[in-house]
Amino acid sequence: MNDTPRVPPRVTVRASPSLALIKYWGKLDTERNLPATPSLAVTLDRLFSTTTVTPADADRVYLDGVPGDPHRYFQFFDTLRARLGTSLCFSAESTNSFPTAAGLASSASGFAALVCACARAAGVDAADETLSAIARVGSASAARSLYGGFVGLDAGAEAARPIHPASHWPEFRIIVVAVTTGPKHTSSRSAMDLARSTSPYYREWVSSSAAWYAEALEALAERDITRLGGLMRSSYLAMFSTMFTSNPPVIYWLPGSLEVIKRCEELRAEGIPAWETMDAGPQVKIACEAPHVEAIIDAIDPERSGWQITVAAPGAAPEIIEEA
Ligand code: PMV
Repeated sequence: MNDTPRVPPRVTVRASPSLALIKYWGKLDTERNLPATPSLAVTLDRLFSTTTVTPADADRVYLDGVPGDPHRYFQFFDTLRARLGTSLCFSAESTNSFPTAAGLASSASGFAALVCACARAAGVDAADETLSAIARVGSASAARSLYGGFVGLDAGAEAARPIHPASHWPEFRIIVVAVTTGPKHTSSRSAMDLARSTSPYYREWVSSSAAWYAEALEALAERDITRLGGLMRSSYLAMFSTMFTSNPPVIYWLPGSLEVIKRCEELRAEGIPAWETMDAGPQVKIACEAPHVEAIIDAIDPERSGWQITVAAPGAAPEIIEEA
């Protein structure tokens, strides 16, 4: 009997984006890509990066058919080989079921799918914690996409940690309102570096984040959407204040973003808990519970506005969907 493990030469993995309720923004260690602030996120179902990997003579990544910039990947692949104990290089093709690089966390789902597919193609059965730490080198939010449900990434942490499975809050929803499909003008990496080096509010942002995170963990444990929503709002608005006060300022918001924010305010005034958040892009994501989804979408009025709406629930960890 031959008990050498079979190494699949071609592996396809699907992973979902990690939407931060409490934000990571800024690096404690730029070289190692360690986050300066703790973040709490939910992995979203309904949105996917699908990545197919084959061993190759050199590392290559194609995003929706377009070759990716090798500088964006070389540290990731070097870390991957060192941590997995392999000498293989990989060719990867990745597609997203949603707009790439538009502030919808495609780098989180993309790197999470990539690390899982490479490990499988290399025949290495690595712990989730190891895969999360490797994904973090590509994009810190990707460390969180290694897990389903609700996930935390502590300040300075190498890897994310699962906090609650998706079943903890089955009624929780995120309404993604894509006010544009265009790519963002500034990468999150350069915007956060700029905030750290130029914003007078950056230190304050980092020091406030620990308390929001701790309180958000309690609100999440209690499934208290109003308390969690208030903390989400403090977190994203403070994060953006570091961008608005950078030199030069970084402004991802579009008029549509502000319109959605105002509608959420109106909904809350009417007693409907609709708590928005935003990332490094103009899209708005609204946290709510299932019974309120319809009323919120009515208020957004996608037919008139033309905005693309996706309703996501807490989703699953990356999944191998094909090997050949
Ligand atoms: O992981 P990155 O480098 O794509 O940065 C993500 C930053 C935010 O999306 C704005 C916040 C977060 O915690 O996901």
